[in-house]
Amino acid sequence: SQLHAPPPQPTSIRNVYFGNYRVKPWYTSPYPEEYSCSRNLYLCESCLKYMNSDYVLQRHRMKCAWRHPPGDEIYRDQNISVFEVDGQRQPIYCQNLCLLAKMFLQSKILCYDVEPFLFYIMTEYDGASCKILGYFSKEKRSASNYNVSCILTLPIYQRRGYGAFLIEFSYLLSKAERKFGSPEKPLSDLGLLSYRSYWRKRVAETLLSMRSSVSIENIAQATSMVCDDVISALEALSVLKYDMKKKIYVLHVDKMKLYHVCKKWDEKHPQRVKPTSLRWTPYI
Ligand code: ACO
Ligand code: ZN
Repeated sequence: SQLHAPPPQPTSIRNVYFGNYRVKPWYTSPYPEEYSCSRNLYLCESCLKYMNSDYVLQRHRMKCAWRHPPGDEIYRDQNISVFEVDGQRQPIYCQNLCLLAKMFLQSKILCYDVEPFLFYIMTEYDGASCKILGYFSKEKRSASNYNVSCILTLPIYQRRGYGAFLIEFSYLLSKAERKFGSPEKPLSDLGLLSYRSYWRKRVAETLLSMRSSVSIENIAQATSMVCDDVISALEALSVLKYDMKKKIYVLHVDKMKLYHVCKKWDEKHPQRVKPTSLRWTPYI
């Protein structure tokens, strides 16, 4: 089934120019009025500064020296990197990023209050600079143990597996923190699709790698997923069965089926996270 981008909301910004691309915003974003009332918005693809004319953007480009997002490069595997950016240290960049993200997110996200968040920016090196492909934000201290607050793949790069990469990466951070993580609710339709797909594959992979007597807690430990998300994946895989006689839930594993789930997923997602490429210590 094909999900289409939601119909454009009443926003006066019709076109967003980003690098060599033109995109139509899906939702309204709280850009300052002098920008949000114009038809076209121009963004610098390096520092994410917003401008209201192509002329200003071209002049900006000549002097913009940014070759990668600000902050620490915490992951590199070939041409893919992830940078960790602290909202408190880089408020302007993070605000610009949230304003950009809000154009594709229906949920309320705070675009100006960025201090409590860390931002994980996925980039691709093109020979000259590290271009942003997508990102997720994460609260420095989450009372609910959310490991992702907002996640976005830039629309021009969607459906190439980068969302899955970002999700997998968020669980790698949870693993390093020795925590169980889950994304902040509510999830968007596209968010739910992406997460369900990842959870199914991750749980299938884990079941295949484990010995016979395995519990939901064992799977949660191995995946850094919260038990509720493990259960929803087990249900989606039709693994969770109710034993009428014993009146208990049992895991009924069809290895062949799980193997196919994993194989199909791997074929569709060649861009995998390499845990050994992470250089990171949890935020304290
Ligand atoms: N129609 C149908 N399926 C889709 C679509 C679509 N338009 N887009 C993605 N999918 C499916 C893919 O088929 C894939 O499933 P598969 O693993 O079974 O093949 C899965 O979703 C993930 O696809 P990716 O290519 O890895 O994801 P992508 O790079 O497109 O990013 C994301 C997914 C981040 C959700 C993206 O759609 C996005 O940025 N959307 C707008 C912002 C948003 O809604 N973010 C989530 C909000 S919830 C939160 O932030 C906690
Ligand atoms: Zn710039």
